[in-house]
Amino acid sequence: MMGALSFLIFWFSVLTLFCQDINIAAYTLTPSQSILDGQTLLSQGEKFELGFFSPTNISKNRYLGIWYNLNVVPVQTVVWVANRESPLKDTSGVLKIGASGNIVVVNQTEGVIWSSNVSKTVDNPILEFLESGNLVLRDVNNSSSETYVWQSFDYPGNTLLPGMKVGWNSKTGLNRKMSSWKNFDDPSYGDFTDEMANTGYYESFIRKGSRNIYRTGPWNGLGFSGAPDLKDNPIFTYEVVRTADELYYMYQLVIKSVILRYVLTQTGSEGLLQRLTWVEKANKWVNLVSIPRDRCDDYGLCGAYSTCDSTIVAVCQCLKKFKPKSPLDWSETDWSQGCERETSLNCTEGDGFIKYTGVKFPDTTGTWFNTSMNLEECRVKCLQNCSCMAYANTDISGDGSGCIMWFTDLTDIRQMNNAGQDLYIRMAASEIDLHANSKMKKRVIIIVVFTIVSGMIVVVLGTWYFWKKRSLKGGHSEKDDLELPLYQLVTLASATNNFSEENKLGEGGFGPVYRVNFDITGSVHNAKYSLHCDGK
Ligand SMILES: *[C@@H]1O[C@H](CO)[C@@H](O)[C@H](O)[C@H]1NC(C)=O
Ligand SMILES: *[C@@H]1O[C@H](CO)[C@@H](O)[C@H](O)[C@H]1NC(C)=O
Ligand SMILES: *[C@@H]1O[C@H](CO)[C@@H](O)[C@H](O)[C@H]1NC(C)=O
Ligand SMILES: *[C@@H]1O[C@H](CO)[C@@H](O)[C@H](O)[C@H]1NC(C)=O
Ligand SMILES: *[C@@H]1O[C@H](CO)[C@@H](O)[C@H](O)[C@H]1NC(C)=O
Ligand SMILES: *[C@@H]1O[C@H](CO)[C@@H](O)[C@H](O)[C@H]1NC(C)=O
Ligand SMILES: *[C@@H]1O[C@H](CO)[C@@H](O)[C@H](O)[C@H]1NC(C)=O
Ligand SMILES: *[C@@H]1O[C@H](CO)[C@@H](O)[C@H](O)[C@H]1NC(C)=O
Repeated sequence: MMGALSFLIFWFSVLTLFCQDINIAAYTLTPSQSILDGQTLLSQGEKFELGFFSPTNISKNRYLGIWYNLNVVPVQTVVWVANRESPLKDTSGVLKIGASGNIVVVNQTEGVIWSSNVSKTVDNPILEFLESGNLVLRDVNNSSSETYVWQSFDYPGNTLLPGMKVGWNSKTGLNRKMSSWKNFDDPSYGDFTDEMANTGYYESFIRKGSRNIYRTGPWNGLGFSGAPDLKDNPIFTYEVVRTADELYYMYQLVIKSVILRYVLTQTGSEGLLQRLTWVEKANKWVNLVSIPRDRCDDYGLCGAYSTCDSTIVAVCQCLKKFKPKSPLDWSETDWSQGCERETSLNCTEGDGFIKYTGVKFPDTTGTWFNTSMNLEECRVKCLQNCSCMAYANTDISGDGSGCIMWFTDLTDIRQMNNAGQDLYIRMAASEIDLHANSKMKKRVIIIVVFTIVSGMIVVVLGTWYFWKKRSLKGGHSEKDDLELPLYQLVTLASATNNFSEENKLGEGGFGPVYRVNFDITGSVHNAKYSLHCDGK
């Protein structure tokens, strides 16, 4: 009798186990299941692992976290931590779906150490660990992302994975931001954050407490104004998204096999935002970018109306037509006071604008913008308002579009190498006339000098030619005397694909220079030819 009962119980257990196995995939957790310290849950495609860990073998503290599956990245690399501020002191931690429908971490005595804290509940909650590394709590019958009750991607730690958002959601009131660990052994909140600004135009900041450390510059359709390294790379896309409810930045992998993460680290009092990639051959994380990159990335180093150029020893320079506000401090490399106009504005007299090229746009806090206006409309609108200090396009993709206007002193500008944008700064009319006049004068002088010199050359050459022709009576044919070979326009046209842009090498003083595709001389190949005719 007892034997039969044991037999039945045994088979019942096997059946239950079997049923659980077929009903519930390994990457989910139901209210009847739990994860103990030492057990882990793998993500859908086994890239990530969820469980209890200690940051180093120095500390005994236990945290619930997510790291790369050690088969993928053999060095423990934690990307998210639940109980950052409340470590377990032993290995008694348990992860489960609590009675309230929340995800909870409890200790030995069922005391709640950490909770997902959502008030909204669902009838049939299930925890699912997605391949992206996102841990989501949702209803068993609804896997649509809009209906997630809770997701770890909404609460980034020091790591940004592909698909995670940094920014605002006005509907949920969330401000998703990265935050550094206190140090490599302590995941509790450190001093640094990386967050999207919600004042001004779309830009993000690294902050230490409430102090700005670094600013990306506003989004210009292709990248952030001051972070040109994000543009046009084959590995990941990077974008700022603005919808009715949300404003965030996010990156996504193009090459899915690449393992890439952003991490905001704190070492002592220094904070760094790094982009790292796992290099399997080298068996280590390789740092691709560290921000801030140089002195000019330090927020506001140079003060108002000055620009930072890291290629110069005295990195701060007043913008053209501006002078140091405090010349003494300035000469002693205290640039904090910034610069002021050489000629102050007089709006009633009428102002104008001077174009400054290749700059990282100033801090956009307090700016006004309209993304459907064009540059000319922007100029007119800015001119009409005496407190408008500068204007520019918001978007530089294509021919440029949109309008942004600054109403405060322009701060945190830097000179970009081979990048940067055009900024139009308000200037007294007298400065602009003077500017135009001096330019015109220069032009006149150049033209006069050029005419005189070329006239003299013609006279000298002419004299020399006639003198030579007379003394050498019929020595050479005229053609042999020419140094440059001459080609028929048709030949040149076909050799340069009808003077296509592809063949264009650049513009010289005489006009555009093209590369020829095939041998047009019999001896010269792939040489450069200038076209000495106007236009083409
Ligand atoms: C801790 O780990 C490091 C390397 O991971 C190792 O060299 C060291 O011996 C370990 N210390 C202890 C106390 O286990
Ligand atoms: C478990 O957690 C509760 C609440 O945080 C706490 O009061 C209790 O002392 C803890 N028990 C143990 C054994 O750590
Ligand atoms: C949940 O709420 C409690 C009490 O309000 C708070 O102490 C705790 O930090 C919250 N946890 C999270 C993860 O927000
Ligand atoms: C959820 O799905 C199960 C079967 O998959 C069904 O029995 C249950 O009624 C559904 N619940 C809701 C609220 O739709
Ligand atoms: C999931 O929830 C959304 C919003 O409540 C609803 O529109 C959708 O029909 C649901 N899907 C399923 C499969 O129940
Ligand atoms: C602006 O120019 C007008 C006319 O030259 C002058 O009367 C006025 O004082 C100036 N205003 C300022 C603020 O310089
Ligand atoms: C933005 O500019 C467009 C085009 O000039 C205009 O139609 C629209 O009303 C402007 N929007 C705002 C909010 O000013
Ligand atoms: C100029 O712009 C500022 C800031 O948008 C605004 O407060 C002010 O009313 C404007 N002045 C005029 C005359 O339009």
